[in-house]
Amino acid sequence: MTNIFAVILAAGQGTRMKSKLYKVLHPVCGKPMVEHVVDHIQSVNVDRIVTVVGHGAELVKETLGEKSEYVLQAEQLGTAHAIQQAEPILGKLEGTTLVVCGDTPLIRPETMQALFEHHAKQNAKATILTAVAENPTGYGRVLRDTDGKVAQIVEQKDATEQQKLVTEINTGTYCFDNKALFEALKLVNNHNAQGEYYLPDVIEILQQQGEIVSAFVTDSFDETLGVNDRFALSQAEQLMRARINEKHMRNGVTIINPATTHISTDAVIGRDTVLQPGVMIEGATVIGEDCIIGPNSHIVASKIGDRTTIHSSVVLNSTVGSETAVGPFAHLRPNSTLGDHVKIGNFVEVKKSVLGDHTKVSHLSYIGDAEVGNNVNIGCGSITVNYDGRNKFKTTIEDNVFVGCNSNLVAPVTIGAGSFIAAGSTITKEVPADAFAIARARQENKLDYVSKLYLK
Ligand code: UD1
Ligand code: CA
Repeated sequence: MTNIFAVILAAGQGTRMKSKLYKVLHPVCGKPMVEHVVDHIQSVNVDRIVTVVGHGAELVKETLGEKSEYVLQAEQLGTAHAIQQAEPILGKLEGTTLVVCGDTPLIRPETMQALFEHHAKQNAKATILTAVAENPTGYGRVLRDTDGKVAQIVEQKDATEQQKLVTEINTGTYCFDNKALFEALKLVNNHNAQGEYYLPDVIEILQQQGEIVSAFVTDSFDETLGVNDRFALSQAEQLMRARINEKHMRNGVTIINPATTHISTDAVIGRDTVLQPGVMIEGATVIGEDCIIGPNSHIVASKIGDRTTIHSSVVLNSTVGSETAVGPFAHLRPNSTLGDHVKIGNFVEVKKSVLGDHTKVSHLSYIGDAEVGNNVNIGCGSITVNYDGRNKFKTTIEDNVFVGCNSNLVAPVTIGAGSFIAAGSTITKEVPADAFAIARARQENKLDYVSKLYLK
């Protein structure tokens, strides 16, 4: 087995994105483009991954962390110059090097693997991954000689009108014999329209040296999309979304309208769960089986049990049990934990709180910084008064409590197990277990008084 290395080109600013954010960090389905590339490469089992960083170097390193080694390209003089920065690490090693651009997030591991295999079978010094594009504008064109062998790559800006008609394009992914690559790089010059050192020139150099140079044509142009501007970014998003949605549907998830359903690459969804239109699932969310995720729900980095319904609601960094119902129009803010058989109804906000099994908060409530036991019923309009303008305080509601409508529970406060709070109470002191607490002005009826109100 020879050593396999990978180099990712990620030093460019990405001028055509017209963005403050460096191009390779723009997310596609919630994950930075360059991270898709690294993750795909990792799943083909390479020995070392080296990422060439420049613009936004620190941020790129922070994003990829331990997944890669790094070399700095301080000045962006072109893709060949970028690879040369890896010479101190890789230059002397025997092996095969895969080169991938950080802006091609859709190339699948299977395609990289097939490229490797083709490269090995041809015994080539260089193999370039090419595709046939309906609209090749912007890509380097693959020029073949009369025998059909790859002779040269010509960039859009250097191409003659005749060459621009060629539809076979350089995807920016290559396999090289590692030593041959670094030797050939020394011969690349920058005599071209952009004054850059072009990596694709290595192909021509090796070919002229009489080495075997090959092309592997993939039939999936979609995979090879290079994201240079926001329009291509939206195309990449659409293609990646379709790919993710298809994976879930093939695994037994019903997606009513895949075109409006957004699922992150890391989400896991159980069988027979139904995603209704407009659902957005972000981060490493895990959703169980037989759930219904209703229209326009937004779920971020959360865990949802089985047979639970989330209806037109927002769930952020929270845990929701099984057979629980949330919404419509509920908001679970970070660090909320709901048990099983819980009901959170419309216009209820829960923040950093734990709610036990069979507990119900059915309408128009705010539950913040609270620990709520099992089988508690919190009536319409009740709130935890958790903030005095400076500090947050905790409310504890033990099991089997009934909180009447429109109560204020002024924290810090504990409501003992089995107690009952009369509607409209403002509770400021502990309520003992099994007590009935009433804290509101007594009603007074002034008989026949209305007519006096209107006396002139
Ligand atoms: C490149 C190829 C082109 C191919 C296309 C496929 C060259 C000269 N052209 O063009 O043949 O069809 O990709 O998508 O290689 N980068 C650096 N340092 C640099 C320059 C670029 O790290 O000095 C990185 C960029 O961050 C990017 C990648 O290399 O991730 C490709 O650069 P880009 O400017 O997008 O090249 P293209 O014009 O798309
Ligand atoms: Ca590009």
